[in-house]
Amino acid sequence: MAVLLVPAVLLLVGLAAATAAGENNFTFNGFNPVAPQLVLTDLAAVTPGGLLQLTNYTKQTKGHAFFPTPFRFKKPSNGRNRSLSFSTSFVFEITPEYPHSFGHGIAFVLSPDPYLAGSVASQHLGLFSPANDGNSSNHIVAVEFDIVKNEEFDDISDNHVGIDVNSLKSVNATNVYYVENGERKALNLTSEKLRAWVDYEGQTGRMEITVAPAGVPRPETPLLEYVRDLSSVVADEVYVGFSASTGAATAMQYVLGWSFRLDGKADELDLSRLPSLPDPEGSGGPKKFSAIVLAAALTLAAVTILLLGIAVGIFMVRRRKKYAEVLEDWEEEYGPHRFSYKDLFRATRGFGDGQLLGTGGFGRVYRGLLRSSKMDIAVKRISHDSQQGMREFVSEIVSMGRLRHRNLVQLLGNCRRQGELLLVYDFMPNGSLDKFLFDPAKIKLTWEQRLHIVKGVASGLLYLHGGWEQVVVHRDIKASNVLLDDDLNGKLSDFGLARLHDHDNHPQTTRVVGTLGYMAPELTKTGKATTATDVYAFGAFLLEVACGRRPMEVHPSSGEPFLVDWVLECWKRGSILEAADPKLWTGGGKDPAEEIELLLKLGLLCSHPEAAARPTMRQVVQYLDGEALLPVLSPGVLEASSLAMRKSEGFDDFVVSLTYSSSSSYTTFGHDLSPSESFFSGNH
Ligand SMILES: *[C@@H]1O[C@H](CO)[C@@H](O)[C@H](O)[C@H]1NC(C)=O
Ligand SMILES: *[C@@H]1O[C@H](CO)[C@@H](O)[C@H](O)[C@H]1NC(C)=O
Ligand SMILES: *[C@@H]1O[C@H](CO)[C@@H](O)[C@H](O)[C@H]1NC(C)=O
Ligand SMILES: *[C@@H]1O[C@H](CO)[C@@H](O)[C@H](O)[C@H]1NC(C)=O
Ligand SMILES: *[C@@H]1O[C@H](CO)[C@@H](O)[C@H](O)[C@H]1NC(C)=O
Ligand SMILES: *[C@@H]1O[C@H](CO)[C@@H](O)[C@H](O)[C@H]1NC(C)=O
Repeated sequence: MAVLLVPAVLLLVGLAAATAAGENNFTFNGFNPVAPQLVLTDLAAVTPGGLLQLTNYTKQTKGHAFFPTPFRFKKPSNGRNRSLSFSTSFVFEITPEYPHSFGHGIAFVLSPDPYLAGSVASQHLGLFSPANDGNSSNHIVAVEFDIVKNEEFDDISDNHVGIDVNSLKSVNATNVYYVENGERKALNLTSEKLRAWVDYEGQTGRMEITVAPAGVPRPETPLLEYVRDLSSVVADEVYVGFSASTGAATAMQYVLGWSFRLDGKADELDLSRLPSLPDPEGSGGPKKFSAIVLAAALTLAAVTILLLGIAVGIFMVRRRKKYAEVLEDWEEEYGPHRFSYKDLFRATRGFGDGQLLGTGGFGRVYRGLLRSSKMDIAVKRISHDSQQGMREFVSEIVSMGRLRHRNLVQLLGNCRRQGELLLVYDFMPNGSLDKFLFDPAKIKLTWEQRLHIVKGVASGLLYLHGGWEQVVVHRDIKASNVLLDDDLNGKLSDFGLARLHDHDNHPQTTRVVGTLGYMAPELTKTGKATTATDVYAFGAFLLEVACGRRPMEVHPSSGEPFLVDWVLECWKRGSILEAADPKLWTGGGKDPAEEIELLLKLGLLCSHPEAAARPTMRQVVQYLDGEALLPVLSPGVLEASSLAMRKSEGFDDFVVSLTYSSSSSYTTFGHDLSPSESFFSGNH
């Protein structure tokens, strides 16, 4: 390609206004816009005024201009090749688009390729690319006039001159200045017309760069020096020229005149003959143009900022709404237990369906991962309709965060929003116990595992009833409220939550909260939960675990809807173990019969219809641990009082009809009842 260009250029030489003849020297006092004297690529062009314009205000561009004929830089001498001396001088001017934002600079280049193939713009100045920067097979030597400080290349400033050998990491560099009358004067590459001289002495390998404002005579002292035998760097045939680039910031980069000589001193340029830059005030000039562009850009920027501001505002308002919380003065004291809604929202991936663990009587439960602590959590979202009583309820719930027992699911904290309370608990990987008892897909628990769980739940409940400064009634003991951790330890969850419905009272209706089959007769009658009603529910739970049946579920053979009655019936027949889960006998190992019998009887005792006859949780734990013996019971007495109690309450009929009308009798019972349903009269 270069070879093809040579004849064309030789043909043009005669037409050129400037001198461009001979093998070893040329001088351009301005350039010929009609008959190009240079190989111009990318953005480079010669303006009608005779300026060599390497770039304009187009971003991320480069421009190259090379003398079309290569020079032979090396000569054999005494059996080794030595590089010849050369000298060049040029006048250039860089006019930034904006006073404080400009890029990227001009370089004088010696290169084997006048197109600098593969080079990129921006900080690479159109010389190199990230792929080849620093590679010695580039064979490129350049003098850069760099107006951007790039840390990447250890640039010293945004106003420096550097000598580059195959890399943009300069081998020597300096800020720009000149010495006049012994006085060092700073120069600014972007604010004036400058003249530069580059001289290389082949014998010594010394390269000298000198810079001065155009019009000032050449200073004695060079600005920059570097000594190296370039014969080992440059190729045999060397093209000389210029490269410049723009990045995100731009500048007009011009060369006004250029002279070069191989093996001798380049001609001094005739400054009077050099073209001048377009008049900044003249119509259509680049500076005028830039002013218009600037005004337009500023207007556009202002509008954009305004629109952006509005958008950000809307976004913030929405975000605020999205993450809005309610925090009242009285809640401040619970500060440490407070979670931000945003954290919970993120932890649960926006309460996505994929994170849903289940839907209980109080709301949905989501699995989450706290970003800060990488902790697995379960978040219960409880919606409530009234503000009334919220304070009492929240303080109660939050104070339960202080309850700590290995058989209680730890409450970590809460977050309150309008009409919604979020409770954050430890995540229990194995889910709830009822799944293990009734879901055919789950593994069957052995007797040892069941007993371990039951004992754990009993000790957790004992702690609630008496191990703490105040008595806490759970109110909703059942298998689905017993969660299992990794080691299948039973942990009570949802303690205290039933209180929420007390606070949600409507004057016209009364709510009784609990789960059918677990509710003690006196609870359904008075609506008042006590430790004894918890014990009743615990009894139902014991039977549930031992029998593998729900407390209220029509028995397939007997048609008996109450598990209690079925166990009693078996006991009366002298075979109480018949009521136990048949799967318990398939495990092998120690014969569990004795323990199962104890559990069944304890379950019946706890389920005694008369509250006073039930044991306390402390006693229950002692019975389970074998520290005390069960009192002697007879099935007949239990049955008689059970039936009497239920008949007198009219409870039987209600329950039976409910049981038959619904396939699942195992529902949390929290709907409104009218006061006319006398057996569910509340205490409010
Ligand atoms: C420089 O080039 C001109 C034009 O071809 C030629 O006449 C002159 O002799 C050259 N000067 C030197 C010192 O080689
Ligand atoms: C820059 O120069 C190119 C090529 O001459 C031209 O297409 C473009 O419009 C110019 N851009 C500006 C901003 O002057
Ligand atoms: C000198 O350069 C020429 C041309 O590239 C080459 O053929 C020759 O081997 C070189 N000689 C030495 C001693 O490097
Ligand atoms: C050079 O001048 C420009 C304005 O064109 C200014 O922004 C910059 O800070 C100056 N640089 C130095 C090193 O004085
Ligand atoms: C240098 O460039 C040559 C030619 O492009 C290539 O073959 C070589 O792998 C490069 N070396 C490095 C270190 O990148
Ligand atoms: C870099 O240039 C300065 C100024 O001319 C000179 O004093 C110094 O020796 C040079 N350093 C190298 C490594 O060439």
